[in-house]
Amino acid sequence: MSAADFVPERADLDELRQAACGCRGCELYRNATQTVFGEGPPDARVVMIGEQPGDHEDLEGHPFVGPAGRLLDRALEEAGIDRDTVYLTNAVKHFKFTERGKRRIHKTPGRTEIVACGPWLTAELARVRPEMVVCLGAVAAKAVLGADFRVTAMRGQVLELPEFRAVATMHPSSVLRDPDRERAYRDFLADLAVASRELKSA
Ligand code: URA
Ligand code: SF4
Repeated sequence: MSAADFVPERADLDELRQAACGCRGCELYRNATQTVFGEGPPDARVVMIGEQPGDHEDLEGHPFVGPAGRLLDRALEEAGIDRDTVYLTNAVKHFKFTERGKRRIHKTPGRTEIVACGPWLTAELARVRPEMVVCLGAVAAKAVLGADFRVTAMRGQVLELPEFRAVATMHPSSVLRDPDRERAYRDFLADLAVASRELKSA
């Protein structure tokens, strides 16, 4: 099973977003509230890719609108990247979680879900055709750069791919969870600054 059966050919981003609402490419649609598709200008120079929608995103239907999104907003501003110019999406479009009492606890998507959802991400990248892709965390990095990619070893480096340049960094949620949050934030910001410099020099 995969999203491939649900991705319409020759569709623009709005048509893709519409079609993704009905995706049944893996099991995650069953318990999630809705598909959370990417958002941003269709001609964005940068695509930023997170992991999957969180609790807030699942309820609101938009990417990065919760605490991780607020941290990302702040970091983007400090790195000199205007969020309105970025196409923001996730490697996996439905929220994966377990229920603990009334709380929904995030579960990291596995290889099966990353691969199943991949056709949506591929279609988004093919429509937007960005100069730069920023992978936020290991799930996004593995989706774009391969299953063996190690963010800890390669973060903040500019990687030349055939279709775009890429920079991988930590996930903003992991910055929020880090015991040394200030240091984690500084490192995160430094990686985004690499992407920002690349864009300004291009
Ligand atoms: N974390 C993500 O990876 N994506 C979101 O949209 C929100 C939180
Ligand atoms: Fe489809 Fe992706 Fe949702 Fe799975 S997570 S149902 S592949 S949109």
